[in-house]
Amino acid sequence: MSLTVFRKAHFNAAHRLFKKEWDDDKNFKVFGKCSNPNYHGHNYELEIGISGEIDPDTGFLIDLKVLAQIIKEEVEDPFDHKNLNIEVPEFKNTNPTVENIAIVIWNKMRARIDSKYDISVKLYETPRNFVIYNGN
Ligand code: NI
Repeated sequence: MSLTVFRKAHFNAAHRLFKKEWDDDKNFKVFGKCSNPNYHGHNYELEIGISGEIDPDTGFLIDLKVLAQIIKEEVEDPFDHKNLNIEVPEFKNTNPTVENIAIVIWNKMRARIDSKYDISVKLYETPRNFVIYNGN
């Protein structure tokens, strides 16, 4: 019997979407308001899903206290109230789109979660825009 447990988290962060080879006009055409040279913020909402088997001893799939601590260390502490372009090394040369942020989060979680579990990352950049990445 396989099922999925979810833990929600939240962070506020600033970013700018741009290609440095393009001028501000071209960046605005492609990335819109998210290319503002002075950065802007989003309230990111995150749902981490962990899929696997229930441990018959505990009835847990995974200890949610442990999962919450890993999300804090890997996502909330390094991303919350940060400028993603400037302060998060993963985005030094990668546009911090919601797609790329979800992939970075998935990779960081994968490094910390036992390989017997599957991981999914659902990340909202706005209440209406979100992505789901599960490593495929
Ligand atoms: Ni934006």
